Amino acid sequence: MTRTNISRPDQGENNSLSSLNPVPSVMNLSSYVQGQSSIVGVENPIKLSSNESTYGPSPLAIQAYRECSAQLNRYPDGSQQKLREAIGKVHGLDADRIICGNGSEELILLVVRAYLRPGDEALLSENSFIMSNIHCIAQGAELVIAPEKSYRVDVDALLERVTQKTRFCTIANPNNPTGTYISDAEMRRLHAGLPNNCLLLIDNAYAEYVDRKDFANGAKLVDEFENVVMTRTFSKIYGLSGLRIGWAYCPLEIISVLQRIRTPFNTNGPALATAAVAVQDTEFTRRVKEHNTNSLQRISSELTRLGIEVIPSTTNFYLLRFDPQSGKSGSQAASFLQSRGIIPRPAGGSDAFLRITVGLDHENNAVIEALTEYMAA
Ligand SMILES: Cc1ncc(COP(=O)(O)O)c(C=O)c1O
Repeated sequence: MTRTNISRPDQGENNSLSSLNPVPSVMNLSSYVQGQSSIVGVENPIKLSSNESTYGPSPLAIQAYRECSAQLNRYPDGSQQKLREAIGKVHGLDADRIICGNGSEELILLVVRAYLRPGDEALLSENSFIMSNIHCIAQGAELVIAPEKSYRVDVDALLERVTQKTRFCTIANPNNPTGTYISDAEMRRLHAGLPNNCLLLIDNAYAEYVDRKDFANGAKLVDEFENVVMTRTFSKIYGLSGLRIGWAYCPLEIISVLQRIRTPFNTNGPALATAAVAVQDTEFTRRVKEHNTNSLQRISSELTRLGIEVIPSTTNFYLLRFDPQSGKSGSQAASFLQSRGIIPRPAGGSDAFLRITVGLDHENNAVIEALTEYMAA
């Protein structure tokens, strides 16, 4: 797969006519293009382009959000105490080792800013979540990319590329856009092969959806080692993408470093209060997870039957591969879906792939019907 947001050094978007001189590594990037959210002429499209939760947030969280309107004149609690304590209680973690961010993306950015110097090597997997690559490039790091096997992170390929300059490695587990995961044993083997002065960031944005015995989120590794960070988000299973709130669990020393560069009010009051209620509504998230697992199974078997390759997913989205020999392609399928009012997301810049979010039953049915027609056409 190829990437869309990273341009070559000589192709940066340099619109500057002034004598200002932006940091060269920043000019190596082009602006992020978010998932499409509308179709011209379609009033209520089925938006399945950004891995959001189509179930929305817990009703208790919505109520908490409404109650925030009385406090909008106040700055938020810069210590993020209530949310950190709520997360700590639900997940059995030390609240002092939790830090919250404006989405987990911000926390990835803070870690990269704090631990990666220009010229250091950042070790990434071929299809790794695009924002990590962007932050590492902006920081002036050298990206070292390990190939994947069957759309899965390949720990051996990563370890073969470790050098004296490797200072940062990040694995989205499960990964976006592939939807695949690596086991706890594989993650531990990766960690064991990294130098002690290399920080391993485990991005667990989709961890709540995973239903596999050999999977573990990164919390235990954080407890055991001083060079591991786990990031999590309220944007996915909790249905709070619009509020921009995520968190990281870190060794105390890393917390103290990140607190020096976190802006005091990076997380807004409604986001802190709403997320504190959302994380405690475990019955709601259990139901969302159950529906997601059942839907994924159904979609996967229906689309496989049509001759489309469905990359096995443990998330709330699935990556489809259309065999170029068959005359079908991801871009054609995307146009076909759009003509039926459905918005998927082109993935990885390749014409063979298409990524689609798991939706509500009627939305998933619409996808299956449209792809059935497309494959028969
Ligand atoms: C793997 C992965 N990590 C992190 C994020 C960022 O999530 P947030 O909304 O918390 O910034 C996403 C968002 O799609 C993601 O797919």
